[in-house]
Amino acid sequence: MTITIKDAQDIQGMRVAGRLTSEVLDYLTPFVQPGVTTNELDKLVHDYIVNVQQAIPAPLNYMGSGNVPYPKSICTSINHQVCHGIPSDRQLKKGDIVNIDVTVIKDGWHGDSSRMFLVGPVSIAARRLCSLTFDAMWHGIKLVRPGIHLGDIGFAIQKFAEGHGFSVVREFCGHGIGRMFHEEPQVLHYGQPGTQDRLVEGMTFTIEPMVNAGKRDIKDGPEKDGWTIVTKDHSLSAQWEHTVLVTRTGYEVLTLSAGTPPAPAFVPPQTLA
Ligand code: MF3
Ligand code: CO
Ligand code: CO
Repeated sequence: MTITIKDAQDIQGMRVAGRLTSEVLDYLTPFVQPGVTTNELDKLVHDYIVNVQQAIPAPLNYMGSGNVPYPKSICTSINHQVCHGIPSDRQLKKGDIVNIDVTVIKDGWHGDSSRMFLVGPVSIAARRLCSLTFDAMWHGIKLVRPGIHLGDIGFAIQKFAEGHGFSVVREFCGHGIGRMFHEEPQVLHYGQPGTQDRLVEGMTFTIEPMVNAGKRDIKDGPEKDGWTIVTKDHSLSAQWEHTVLVTRTGYEVLTLSAGTPPAPAFVPPQTLA
């Protein structure tokens, strides 16, 4: 197994898949309101991807490391749910924070992105966790260019998150992506500078830190559905995800659309040269 390098034509395919993925999140945003069920959100996304985008929702029937195929088209992880929450008849309520994770396959290429949504007014602590987790993702993205090490990315994310008193989940990581949903390499959100693979132009991978307000430990959720992961200490957890391309001089975020939240002010503008 090796890391796949995308050529110019592959990159065009990845750009389309990435844009469609982000457009799904844009489409969904006005529906994320108190009272909506996560099943309703799942159906909206499923129908939009299949009928409007004429694409495929990658999570549906996806086989992870367990033996239960994923039963829905999106992941919806609420409050202390860390990841892989399965849509259900549960209604979102004021004060919830929810991660919605979308993966679209178009012409064989995958785009993978997730955002946090604040349902009505949420606590200051929840807002801060969501916002700083977004910044943590960007502290990783902004480093991406040929020659740096994956460990540089993990270190930057971990240092930032822990510097704010949060913790980084270890058991799940970013991943190479392309013709397959999950490819090499693993992109850890913790680590040491100068360690692990060096980046090369043409790699595509996700950066998707899961950050807990409390301790980093996780466990299977009480649903026992084979997927839902929660924090052991019941503290809130947040996650953001982009798919990125390593370019000659830096990076290109592939999961971009009109509604993509802009990079934080600390991220230097990308200059083409
Ligand atoms: N989208 C998730 C990721 O970022 C993976 C979800 S697997 C699923 O890697 F089967 F739950 F969809
Ligand atoms: Co991913
Ligand atoms: Co994802």
